[in-house]
Amino acid sequence: MPHTPVLLHTTVELLNVRPGGRYADATVGTGGHAEAILRICLPGGLLLGIDADPKALEVARQRLAPHGDAVTLVNDNFRHLETICRTNGFYPVDGILFDLGLSSLQLEDRDRGFSFMFDAPLDMRFSPTQKTTAATILNSYAEKDLAALLWDYGEERHSRLIARRIVSMRPVTSTRQLVEAIESIPGMTSGRIHPATRTFQALRIAVNRELDNLAEALQQTVRILAVGGRLAVISYHSLEDRLVKRFMQQESKACLCPPQVLSCTCHHIPTLRLITRKPITPPEDEIRRNPRSRSAKLRVAERI
Ligand SMILES: C[S@@+](CC[C@H](N)C(=O)[O-])C[C@H]1O[C@@H](n2cnc3c(N)ncnc32)[C@H](O)[C@@H]1O
Repeated sequence: MPHTPVLLHTTVELLNVRPGGRYADATVGTGGHAEAILRICLPGGLLLGIDADPKALEVARQRLAPHGDAVTLVNDNFRHLETICRTNGFYPVDGILFDLGLSSLQLEDRDRGFSFMFDAPLDMRFSPTQKTTAATILNSYAEKDLAALLWDYGEERHSRLIARRIVSMRPVTSTRQLVEAIESIPGMTSGRIHPATRTFQALRIAVNRELDNLAEALQQTVRILAVGGRLAVISYHSLEDRLVKRFMQQESKACLCPPQVLSCTCHHIPTLRLITRKPITPPEDEIRRNPRSRSAKLRVAERI
């Protein structure tokens, strides 16, 4: 199934895309949001698309080819966002989009191990240049570190039991082996979601250092956005959304002193104005058409 872009119209509308503007899509993926941005910013506009995954970028390259020189694509990690934007002339930039996580293209790729639905090697890297795979983590972490990872990044209640089971069956080499190990733990199969969901999420976040990269990239956005330029972030799990929410709230405050301080000593200068006070979630009909959109949350802020 091709990747269906999530909250497409709302995202492009709230990014405030204008003809002639310069926009950075930090997670261009298969180019769905990018194409919609180009439809509005052309003529005269420019789009910079970044993706860590060369396979995704190749799909975007073909899809966006009709827009010729208006598109620049860069195969890199968005934690280098500021440098990528500056070296490609996207400074200042009128809008930045992050549509986090992974695309259907990656989830359904049977060689990459992102899904618990098919048997595959335990890889889960967005980029083949990364050294650590899911197998590296599963086969080398101490049991308590593995449990902490499943708890921290997967909010997995059975983290200790799963970690113990994994350590006892090393080496773990395939997704099927991992899924069967989780399913064999008593009580695991009675929940609402597949019992391996949280473990797979945790491993993917750890392999790709997703939260660290996002935190680094968000800090850079306020240095490259033009005044009036907008930052839009679509996240798919509570850990990401919390990070985005805190960042936008902090950057929009005039003072970061603790409440007991009577007069401000931090002299924090706000850099953002919140456009969405509460996150926007997909409407029912979008969730029905595209069930993968169900956990999406969009937050938008404007550089002041
Ligand atoms: C949900 S998809 C984006 C889909 C895209 N909006 C579209 O309409 O086709 C997320 C993309 O972000 C990429 N990605 C995730 N983390 C990244 C990072 N730190 N740096 C660069 N790309 C990243 C993934 O490889 C994936 O292609």
